[in-house]
Amino acid sequence: MVFDSGIGGLGTLCEIEKSLPNEEFVFVADFQNSPYGNKTKKQIKDCVLTVLKKYVKKFEPKCLVVACNTATAVCIDEIRKTFDGVFCVGCEPAVKVAQKEGKTRILVLCTKATRKYSAYLKKQKNIVVFCPQKLATLIDNNFLCEETIIVYLNKCLKKFYKKFDAVILGCTHYVLFKKEIEKIVGCKTYEGNSGISKHISKNVAHSKTKGKVHLISTTTKKEQFLIDCHQKIKGEKICVE
Ligand code: DGL
Repeated sequence: MVFDSGIGGLGTLCEIEKSLPNEEFVFVADFQNSPYGNKTKKQIKDCVLTVLKKYVKKFEPKCLVVACNTATAVCIDEIRKTFDGVFCVGCEPAVKVAQKEGKTRILVLCTKATRKYSAYLKKQKNIVVFCPQKLATLIDNNFLCEETIIVYLNKCLKKFYKKFDAVILGCTHYVLFKKEIEKIVGCKTYEGNSGISKHISKNVAHSKTKGKVHLISTTTKKEQFLIDCHQKIKGEKICVE
């Protein structure tokens, strides 16, 4: 099971699907409460645990991927405690990966809540953190016709052009615009999806039969949107009105 506030986690799901092609997947987007990034710690924790309790009980997954940096920063320990026995994987901004490659001028893009609550981020030295406040919502609302997202990205990130040698995409939503962000900031970006996928592939028993993908939204009427977004991330350029 892969979980996020919105469609960021769909990118994570698509990456996991590549290394585990025979699994049955459930993706849950908490559109009803998104974005998480501007909420308080308590609000985020309540949303995450309420949604996960419902769907973990229903689907009994062998692995739970919290494909949301914000939820990971706020409550990954509670999630692990609550779903003891389920293999839980969170996601953290990939600062260490960039540092291992010798990058020293590092910009982290993440939500306000990740900046405020991530113990991992607080430990990192010599990083600059920037929170593009409207970005996750814009992506959730406009992913299929992305012009407004590109305009916003240019507006808030062009001041960083060639100022850093690594930009960390510390929100799974932003990873969906990796190429565009690299062009605007003029350097390489780092994200956690492929690392998560490898980690799961190594630690979870693989199924032998082809399973299906269930795409679930906590609001009604958003499931077709999720199907279209999933298809787009998998490689089809589509524009649905
Ligand atoms: N995709 C999420 C993250 O990785 C959260 C975006 C939001 O809901 O604000 O942080």
